[in-house]
Amino acid sequence: MQYAELNNGLKMPIEGYGVFQVDPKETERCVLDALETGYRSLDTAATYGNEEGVGKAIKKSGVAREEIFLTSKLWVADQGYDKAKKAFEKTLDKLGTDYLDLYLIHQPLGDYYGSWRAMEELYKEGKIKAIGVSNFDSTRLVDLIVNNEVVPAVNQIELHPFLQQKEAQKVMQEYGVKVESWGPLAEAKHDILKDEMLKKIADKYNKTVAQVILRWHLEQEIIIIPKSVRKERMEENLDVHDFSLDKADMEEIAALDGKYPRIVDYNIMDIVTGMNSSKTPE
Ligand SMILES: NC(=O)c1ccc[n+]([C@@H]2O[C@H](COP(=O)([O-])OP(=O)(O)OC[C@H]3O[C@@H](n4cnc5c(N)ncnc54)[C@H](OP(=O)(O)O)[C@@H]3O)[C@@H](O)[C@H]2O)c1
Repeated sequence: MQYAELNNGLKMPIEGYGVFQVDPKETERCVLDALETGYRSLDTAATYGNEEGVGKAIKKSGVAREEIFLTSKLWVADQGYDKAKKAFEKTLDKLGTDYLDLYLIHQPLGDYYGSWRAMEELYKEGKIKAIGVSNFDSTRLVDLIVNNEVVPAVNQIELHPFLQQKEAQKVMQEYGVKVESWGPLAEAKHDILKDEMLKKIADKYNKTVAQVILRWHLEQEIIIIPKSVRKERMEENLDVHDFSLDKADMEEIAALDGKYPRIVDYNIMDIVTGMNSSKTPE
């Protein structure tokens, strides 16, 4: 497995398995399948309501905890110094672990400055190996960096061929923040997996369109965490480390950039009000 080196020297598998929209009742089975397939990085969040299933699968798998890179995220309802500390303990409890490899502020909404101070302390106490953010646009990211001590290790953002985030990537590189893609397959929406040009490239390498898209991320050293509830797709998505895209492929794919969000648009007021009123699952 290829690793990404974070700004504090921590090594994170460049590819992991995400569990957004995995039914809590199915999570244990899915994560067991993912670990069996070979994934060693898992991405969950308090708001997904499936941290317990992730924790159970880790225990049942027999894979040592220290061999797994475990990420979870702090939800909007838990923003602020005191609430963030409590929410972190709850997350540890649900996951059945005494530390996280990576803890992210899930959304740039609410009192995330208070949360960041709490997370900086937990990081210094060694309870979290790296701290980061998610869905921060460049201005919010840089504002957080210049007003705090610890620079986020990653920013997990919507990123796929239809939203390539070139400018945001440049800013993250400049400040030493690793780019992590969520929705690397654009959640299989907007017919991305039927795109003719991607299909042509896939045929050239005897791979699937999903594999070409994941490889496209890896060529740019972007961390990916594709989700599937199907074991054969977990295998397919991990089988992307034995080929490379050439310059011409990368140029062709660059032309697909629509430069606007296809899954979550933070300029829509209902998104912001909805997230602010959404409670963290008990
Ligand atoms: N920070 C955030 O705000 C945020 C937001 C969204 C996601 N995330 C994280 O990022 C992870 C990945 O993103 P995502 O789950 O939204 O989307 P994704 O990984 O881009 O796509 C998942 C979808 O694609 C399908 N799929 C997966 N592999 C496939 C393949 N090889 N061929 C055809 N279809 C395939 C899956 O269906 P099946 O399951 O039926 O196979 C599922 O519907 C999440 O699980 C979560 O951990 C974070």
